[in-house]
Amino acid sequence: MAPSIDSNPQNRIKNGLFCKSAMSEATFVIFGATGDLTMRKLVPALYNLCVDGLLPEDFKIVTVARSAKEPAELLERFRQGVEKFSRSGFKSDVWEQLARRISYVQVDYSDDSSYRTLESHLGIRDPKNVDRRYLFYLATPPTSFNSIIRGLGKNRLVTPAHHHDGPCTRVVFEKPFGRDLTSALELNTLAKQYLDETQMFRMDHYLGKETVQNILVFRFANSIFEPIWNRRYISHVRITAFENIGIEGRGAFYEEAGVIRDVLQNHLLQILSLCAMEPPNSFEAEHIRDERAKVFKALRPLYADDIKDHVSLAQYDGYLSEKGVAADSKTPTFASVRLFIDNWRWEGVPFILSTGKNLKEKMTQIEIHYTPVPLCLFKENDVCMKLEPNVLTIRIQPEEGISLRFGTKTPGEKQDVSPVNMHFDFQHSFKGQAQQEAYEKLLLDCLRGNQTLFARQEEVEHMWHFVAPLLEGAQSGELPMGTYTPGTSGPEVKP
Ligand code: BG6
Repeated sequence: MAPSIDSNPQNRIKNGLFCKSAMSEATFVIFGATGDLTMRKLVPALYNLCVDGLLPEDFKIVTVARSAKEPAELLERFRQGVEKFSRSGFKSDVWEQLARRISYVQVDYSDDSSYRTLESHLGIRDPKNVDRRYLFYLATPPTSFNSIIRGLGKNRLVTPAHHHDGPCTRVVFEKPFGRDLTSALELNTLAKQYLDETQMFRMDHYLGKETVQNILVFRFANSIFEPIWNRRYISHVRITAFENIGIEGRGAFYEEAGVIRDVLQNHLLQILSLCAMEPPNSFEAEHIRDERAKVFKALRPLYADDIKDHVSLAQYDGYLSEKGVAADSKTPTFASVRLFIDNWRWEGVPFILSTGKNLKEKMTQIEIHYTPVPLCLFKENDVCMKLEPNVLTIRIQPEEGISLRFGTKTPGEKQDVSPVNMHFDFQHSFKGQAQQEAYEKLLLDCLRGNQTLFARQEEVEHMWHFVAPLLEGAQSGELPMGTYTPGTSGPEVKP
């Protein structure tokens, strides 16, 4: 009989290196079991994957936190999370199936003996688990990442893939990776003692959104846009991510993060990179990551002498009285920055990135503003006044779609012009095809080992480098902090 893939030592080495074993056994370990992210996003995503039959046959979920918890109490919290936040309706039989796979382990993140308890719970040294994939998801506040990585590494719960002497282990770092450039470098250096780059998944859930992935498809699957996707035809680009919710009781977390670390440094800059990057050689992970990194490398730094002209920071009225927020907090809840990409394609084109909490509506979109026509041929002055430049709007969420604004003749005697929209609506065109949530897609990619939609370390470093003057300016008070009324459009942002 031919040897099975498991018993052939050569294949075992390959499995260790690339985790190419069949994805039939996996354990998903969530640090931060009691946190919001686990309840709102991770467990509902796993539930949806279970509904769609996409989880490995033998799948376990081990939840971990510092406090002593009754597993039943935790399960009830997860069940409520699924009921409230999952896109598929609640089905008790699927929930029961999932709940049976969930267990809980209390771990003191800086205590080695705790990791030994976790190790025996996971059975990670048990020869029968040698083909199991272990995915450690760090869903704790980033301040705990270093202790957890040290604990996992020192106690050999994770080992570099090139040692290929154990099961396949991977770590997912929820964003932000570090809290500035220095801490991101430190975290990376520490993690590299125990992990290869292929095992590190730096999460930015925006990259997993269907509409964000569609940016590259839209640009590179159509021949009409690419030739006019550059400084000759585009006057400016706006990338906006507004939220109508506030900080939702997460004062302590938000004080640490603020809008710059929470959304600008990662979600908005990643969207920017997809809008601005050059065509990759292929859709292979490293080719795409190379091109994203090149955009970050070309970002013009925010210089001290004119940063105030390019940046606007603000706090919503009432932020200072939120629970967990310091009375004299300098944490911005709104940020807007006008930036430039110093390369051949984009020289001189402003990109305006704006994001904030507690605004009028939840809306994320990209607007590509084209240059105006060179000459108004319609003799009448009032008609010329009405000419508006073309705008291509890529709506990321909600009401996902793409629209193109152009001028058209207004019916009637007169040579009059009106702006109109040509519109594509995702929901309408793909009726009945449920969209996977970003976390579902990304969790599957981690299990499969596909790193395309995860940031590489150099991307993270460039992004921190770029936002450093914003973080410092906000903290030192050198950058003025405006205020805005909740439920409005926030401070005015000029092109
Ligand atoms: C998270 C931020 O990364 O993204 C939250 O920490 C924010 O503050 C959220 O609300 C927005 O994500 P989405 O997918 O709802 O746009």
